[in-house]
Amino acid sequence: MAEWKLVIHGGAGVIERERLTAAADGAIRESLGRALEAGSATLAAGGSALDAVERTACLLEDDPHFNAGRGSVFTYQGSNEMDAAIMDGRDRSAGAVAGVTATRNPVSLARAVMERSPHVFLAREGADAFSREQGLEQAGPEWFATAERRRQLEMMLQSEDYFDAELKYGTIGAVAVDARGHVAAATSTGGLTGKRWARIGDTPVIGAGTYADDRAGAVSATGAGEYFIRAGVAHEICARIRLLGEGAQQAADAVIAEIGALGGSGGIILVTPAGDAIFSFNTPGMYRGLASASGRKVAIYADEGAL
Ligand code: GLY
Repeated sequence: MAEWKLVIHGGAGVIERERLTAAADGAIRESLGRALEAGSATLAAGGSALDAVERTACLLEDDPHFNAGRGSVFTYQGSNEMDAAIMDGRDRSAGAVAGVTATRNPVSLARAVMERSPHVFLAREGADAFSREQGLEQAGPEWFATAERRRQLEMMLQSEDYFDAELKYGTIGAVAVDARGHVAAATSTGGLTGKRWARIGDTPVIGAGTYADDRAGAVSATGAGEYFIRAGVAHEICARIRLLGEGAQQAADAVIAEIGALGGSGGIILVTPAGDAIFSFNTPGMYRGLASASGRKVAIYADEGAL
């Protein structure tokens, strides 16, 4: 039996001590800890990496501290349009949704696309209709909307800066390796504050924000999605491991360096079937956590190290 591991992120960006109150810092650490606890329970009971990442991601989606599900950022028009993906490293089956508005847990909708449709990627009204047909739990706009996110949209509209350059509010993600050595990845986001024109980021793009392959590892990304799509980040990391034989940290750092060279910022989490649990990011902070049979750790700022 392999040692199970679970790694999570709640977004990367300009997250610095002086910008977070002690209360917010504590609440976010508690939220990360709760999500780790839920996913760990699945893995410790012999559950699959796929079930663990979905369960963990659902908790993070339900938590208004993070930009996914409840607490998603607002579009320019003042709505919440969410993207999510999930992938199973056993056979590289994958499901993704973009611009969905009414499913309580978009990551579960992504899983339904993977398991109950012949497709990989559904978008907008079609994905919302599929969700209703499949009987997934629906939620109204009041579930997703929070006063803090509305305030952020208003600030952005006033400044006429329609791109969330600081990317403070990230994305959520979970990657896991289970006791049988199988890996899975899940990622979910509200995207960017003030996004327009049905903009879609990297999160639901298989190979960019999310990827899982038992021959290499499972990756979930957070950051400036446009750059992560251009670099095919999650697949590129797995390809470097599989085809070049690079170590997990080396592969992850090389691809994050490429993102930096293109002018982008953000980070990734990665697990491998051999049990590597890796973080790599080029931002001042990333909400993150790691759990294994040995215990749980969470961190926010870059100077707290890799865990
Ligand atoms: N990384 C999330 C997004 O760009 O939408």
